[in-house]
Formats: sequence, structure tokens, C-alpha cells
Amino acid sequence: MLLTKRNKSSVGLDIGANSIKLVKLDWTKSGYSVGAMAIRELPNEAIIADEVRDREAVIFNIQSLIDQVDPKIKNVVVSISGYGVITDKFTIDKKSGSEAEQAILFEAEQRSPFDVEDVTMHHHVIRADEETKKQEILLVAARNEFLNSFIDLILDSGLHPVVVDVDAFATLNAYANNYDIDPERSTALVNIGYDVTNVLYLHEGYYHSTRDISVGTREIYNAIQKEFRLNTELATKAIKGEMKDSIDQDMLKATVIAATEELVSGMELAFSYFKTQAKVDKVDWMVLCGGGALCPYLPEFLQSKLNIPLEIMNPLRNIDYDPEMFQYLEPEKIAPLLTVPIGLAMRKTR
Ligand SMILES: Nc1ncnc2c1ncn2[C@@H]1O[C@H](COP(=O)(O)OP(=O)(O)OP(=O)(O)O)[C@@H](O)[C@H]1O
Ligand SMILES: [Mg+2]
Repeated sequence: MLLTKRNKSSVGLDIGANSIKLVKLDWTKSGYSVGAMAIRELPNEAIIADEVRDREAVIFNIQSLIDQVDPKIKNVVVSISGYGVITDKFTIDKKSGSEAEQAILFEAEQRSPFDVEDVTMHHHVIRADEETKKQEILLVAARNEFLNSFIDLILDSGLHPVVVDVDAFATLNAYANNYDIDPERSTALVNIGYDVTNVLYLHEGYYHSTRDISVGTREIYNAIQKEFRLNTELATKAIKGEMKDSIDQDMLKATVIAATEELVSGMELAFSYFKTQAKVDKVDWMVLCGGGALCPYLPEFLQSKLNIPLEIMNPLRNIDYDPEMFQYLEPEKIAPLLTVPIGLAMRKTR
């Protein structure tokens, strides 16, 4: 038997278009506990839709964040999303070892829109059926060009990426570690970021599929800036809901709603795709996370527009933390923003 030493702590680093987020989780006898957390906003156009436009600025901000938390941090779990990643799902006869590897590679070659030479693939068994001797496989492929340039960015920041995950799967990891998955309820986990919204569906208690929608809160930010004629700093405050006393709330609500049109139609399309694939007539439940879950008026509007009950995810639900660590931020309120880094940190601690 091979005994491997369990890591006592792990760092999840989420590099988003709006901010870089870090969560360090310590694994104790009683479960997870937050060892450190930090958020650092990026200049507005340093990253646009998963594309790093200002590499120097991103590296500088990663290094500053690490220095602020603990300069000794080297190993980090990171994630990618968007157009550089594709996911697919298929069923094969139950096999093991190299036979299974070969069957999966064969399927992948038939399916991937990329040449298998140009991608790095990883697979995971979603479920195996003992009766039919079939197993359902999730295949994740990342374009090498995209993956390598991302890994170089992390290395050039002086860090070592021990795992490269995918935002949507980190979201699922955070959810599954904090909530019971209800097999009766088709659930959409929706991570609303600045430029990308990741949707992951759970159906009959298992992973079903994932979709990335290329719109997030940037549209809302731009609309607020324009409508209220605010500078960058004040527009950032307004979208965080920090200017309740100085801007007209009815007008803010109207601005948010008007700027959400594209997100709503993207979600409607993504949901209709799921309904067709899963042969169901509705999504029963939505769980929101990411910065969009904190945006004033947005969750209520999505719930009424899509007519699906929703809950805001608390990825700290089963995690111990010292509220002092969050300084002026309220942990319960800010938690949805930390879903991805928490899910990432959970990858390596157990
Ligand atoms: N401290 C905060 N309090 C409340 N809301 C915040 C806070 N920080 C960010 N937000 C909200 O989160 C939004 C950004 O979401 P998020 O941080 O999930 O995006 P990202 O991960 O940087 O981007 P992407 O995933 O698209 O690359 C902001 O536009 C703002 O609405
Ligand atoms: Mg994000």
C-alpha cells in the first residue's frame, strides 16, 4: 500500500478579470478552516474575457497579493475557464487500467473539436453502473496554447501551480463540500464573474454538463459608470452596493436591470440547452455565486425573469474561520465571491 502524506494546508488562487482572490485552507481534525484570505482588484482592462492583456500588471498584482498574505507561499491550485477549455461527456463499457485509457482516448479523438495533439486532456468517472457495466466519463480538454501561457504566468509570478482546475468544477467542489446534492432537483450552479458566467448543471444527483456564457458584471459596471457619470473608483463602489446614500436606488435598479439583458438571454439559452439534453421541462433550482451574486438587485431580477427559485451560495457554510481575518468585510456577505478559490483550495487538502 502506498501511503502519501496529507497536505495540512492548500492555497486556491483565482485570477479573475475583476480581481485576484486567494484562500488558504487548513485541514484540521474537525474539518476545514480558513488560514488566510485576500482579494486584490486588477486594473480594469488587465484581463478581458480570460485573455491577459497586461501581463506585467497581472504578475505585479499576484506578487503583491502573495507578499501581503505570506511571501513563503509557493504551491497554488489555480483554474482556467472560457474558450480555452472544452468539456464533454460520454458512456463507455466498464474497463480498467490501460484498456480504459485507450477506450477514452479513442472516444476523445472522435469528439474533440481540437486535434488531440493540441490539447491536454483529463478524464473523470462520473458514475459507473454495475448492472449495465457501463460508465459515464467526463472529459476535460484544455488548448495547450492557452494552458501553457497561463502556467507561464503563474511561474513568472514566482509560484508553482500544483493543480490547474476549471472554474466551473471548482464551483462544484465548493458546493459539494458545503451542501447536500438533492437528486430530485435539477440544479444550476451559476458563477457570475466580470466577463464570464459559468453554469454547471446537476441532474439526478450527478454532474450533467457545463456551459460558459461570455457575459458578466462588466456590462453593469459600464452602465452604472455612464448613467451616474462616476469615475472608476465610485462606479466600483456603486456596483458593490456601497453608495446607498448617495445614488438614487430606483435609478440604480433600473440601470442594473437594463444592463442584464444579455446575461438573461445567455442564461435562457444555456438553460434551454440543458432542458433538451436532460429531457426535463425545467431547471428546478439555481445557486448563485461569484461577484454577480453580490451585485445589488441582480439576484432578485434573475429569479423573477427566469422564474426559477434561487439561493446564494455560502461556500464557508461548513468551514471554520476567524471573522477578524476578513477585516472590514462581512464574511457571510463576501463568501459567494470566494467560491472558486475555496473550491480550488479544497482540491489538495484532502
Ligand atoms: N467587495 C465586494 N463587495 C461586493 N461586490 C463585489 C466586491 N468585489 C467585487 N464585487 C462584485 O463582483 C463583480 C466581479 O465578480 P467576480 O469577482 O466574481 O469576477 P472575476 O472572477 O474577477 O471575473 P471572471 O470570473 O469573469 O474572470 C464586480 O463587478 C462587483 O459587482
Ligand atoms: Mg471568476
